[in-house]
Amino acid sequence: MMNLKCKNGIVSWQSPSNIAFVKYWGKRDRQYPMNPSLSMTLNNSHTTMEVEFSILDKAQDTIIQNFQLEGIEKPKFQQRLEKFLQSITDVAPFVANLNLNIKSSNSFPHSAGIASSASALSALALCLASIEQAMIGAEEIDWQKASLLARLGSGSACRSVYGNYVLWGKDDELESVDDYAVTFNAHEKFDDLQDAILIVDSEPKKVSSSIGHGKMNNNPFADARFQQAKDHYRQLAKAMRSGDWDTFGEILELEALTLHAMMMSSSPSFVLLKPNSLSIIEKIREFRESTKIPVYFTIDAGPNIHMIYPGKDKTQISVLLENLKTLCENDRIIHDCIGKGPVLLKKEVNG
Ligand code: PMV
Repeated sequence: MMNLKCKNGIVSWQSPSNIAFVKYWGKRDRQYPMNPSLSMTLNNSHTTMEVEFSILDKAQDTIIQNFQLEGIEKPKFQQRLEKFLQSITDVAPFVANLNLNIKSSNSFPHSAGIASSASALSALALCLASIEQAMIGAEEIDWQKASLLARLGSGSACRSVYGNYVLWGKDDELESVDDYAVTFNAHEKFDDLQDAILIVDSEPKKVSSSIGHGKMNNNPFADARFQQAKDHYRQLAKAMRSGDWDTFGEILELEALTLHAMMMSSSPSFVLLKPNSLSIIEKIREFRESTKIPVYFTIDAGPNIHMIYPGKDKTQISVLLENLKTLCENDRIIHDCIGKGPVLLKKEVNG
């Protein structure tokens, strides 16, 4: 390697998880989405990753020397990250010459329905982008590259590189692309959105999202679903720009239920929702009907319900949450909200 501006150092990023409003479900080639998606970056649910690095003269067989999650060595996670790093050396050749010790921790519990792959892979991609920035002596990190690398690790992770609302997937009208995510500006009514995550069941998922994506390849409704998602993407963006709660809520809930309908209509079929997931949905709809407060639900690939509502209605919503708590596992609710995106915590580099 020629003319390196640094030889070793430590970088650390705190990167959040995100919740999709229009869902990415179905992929092709190298983690390209079959339809565009729109997400909200979370605030409290994040991964903190510290990477100690040195840059070697030539590529070694192993990039990661040590990986710890919450202070404990995790060989399985290490293997997964190693495989990811080895797989991106064509788009980021400098990665092959790195020697890394990684420490990672999450602010949220494992298997709580919060995507730890999105926060962890985006944190790692940002650390790599910071290392590359130090190597070449650039002023800024390359955000697009960070999002692209995160995408190659876990599709939805590319959206976690930015705060607030984020777009990912090709659309000419919204000028978004498949390679990396871009930011999206919504109406000020959506400035203070809250996400109460109602933990119905914290058992690890029986079907991973990569298997779920794969099952879309022979789902008989796949083409209709991809077209619906493309339409929802534009309609939701329009509603969020104009501050139209009704359209926002209708699409949000339809997206969540269609995602699960796709799982139920895959072959072999699978069901991730639990009886209490449905009871919560019913109660949210009843509450909305009677109070006219814009409170809606969305759901990830699991049984837990993300209840989305405006910050200004917190007091009244606390009555509903008190009621819904009894339908949750050990009364568990995780309170989160819209977040500003990743934060660089440390960058110490030696020349
Ligand atoms: O990024 P993956 O492969 O974990 O897939 C994420 C899929 C959903 O969370 C269900 C939807 C989404 O867009 O985040």
